[in-house]
Amino acid sequence: MQTSFSESQTRINLMRAFAGECQSRQRYYQAALTAQQQKLVGLERMFRFTAEQEERHAIVFWKLLKEGTGQDIDISAGFPAEVTEEIQKLLDASEREEKKEFSVVYPDFARIAADEGFTEAASKFRMIADIENSHRARFRYYGELYRSGMLFRSNDTEQCWICLNCGHIHKGSEPPQECPVCRAEQGYFIRREEAAFTSCDTVSA
Ligand SMILES: [Fe+2]
Ligand SMILES: [Fe+2]
Repeated sequence: MQTSFSESQTRINLMRAFAGECQSRQRYYQAALTAQQQKLVGLERMFRFTAEQEERHAIVFWKLLKEGTGQDIDISAGFPAEVTEEIQKLLDASEREEKKEFSVVYPDFARIAADEGFTEAASKFRMIADIENSHRARFRYYGELYRSGMLFRSNDTEQCWICLNCGHIHKGSEPPQECPVCRAEQGYFIRREEAAFTSCDTVSA
């Protein structure tokens, strides 16, 4: 039997999820600004890309709160404060938070929503948990590259790097200090396979 929305735990969990997603979005946006100040444009774009997805998650949860329209919903929850300019700490904290959402918070919310008869909310919690897992993996990947000094270095001398400013592709174990085409700094280069839309740019006509 379905619990009434106004008396449900799901109503509170949706508001907690909405608040959490808004904050994730803002944290990643700020991390993007920090990366930009340190001329790490690839990381800046990665944080922005993820921030935009958190914004979409917030919208999904917001829409599910429609039944509670017109009410204030009181919540109590812990939210992380990682105030730092250190890129390594930002990447590691982001990975930790995504892991918590993916492995604990959203699976719990999904189970409670299913128990209370809110199938759409349960399914959105589950699917967004999977997305958070992909975010966790992304932050871990860049966290490890950064930690090991491999953000701009590869063991593969045939590695392709793409300039995010002009699209120039450079092959070698390191991207150039400066793009030979547009003069963008090394921070604009990422591994070619990490860039969106590049898997189709050699398809013959
Ligand atoms: Fe999210
Ligand atoms: Fe996320």
